[in-house]
Amino acid sequence: MDDEMKYLLGQAVQAREEAYAPYSCFKVGCALLGEDNRVFLGCNVENASYGLTNCAERTALFRAIADGYKPYSFKAIAIAGDVSRPLAPCGACRQVLVELCSPGMRVIMGNTKGEYIESTVSELLPGAFDRGAFIDDKEI
Ligand code: THU
Repeated sequence: MDDEMKYLLGQAVQAREEAYAPYSCFKVGCALLGEDNRVFLGCNVENASYGLTNCAERTALFRAIADGYKPYSFKAIAIAGDVSRPLAPCGACRQVLVELCSPGMRVIMGNTKGEYIESTVSELLPGAFDRGAFIDDKEI
């Protein structure tokens, strides 16, 4: 197992402790690794109006952007839940990953036991609708 990814998954498991999930009782944690090795943590934040819930992945991504990180400046993201098979990001989060992360960025889908499988942003949402529909220049 890759030590850096194992560490990142451990951070995601810790982030899970902060989850606000009174409705589903399904706590999710996320850790996003910046190019300079800074780690941004995220957890799911639910709402009585269920559709307003923010997933752990988007919490971490938005936190990083709000803190001045530029899109595509991340190395990896790890996601963890108390599940037997590794936790995969939902469709909405895949779309946000496509928007803010490079296509080849590593996505670690794990659980609280430290088991994980690895994929990439483009593998998780092939043929995505993205900013290329509006902007030819991929530079930001
Ligand atoms: N959830 C996440 O935070 N990330 C995922 O990848 C899947 C689902 C949250 C949303 C909701 O609070 C709870 O898990 C149940 O769907």
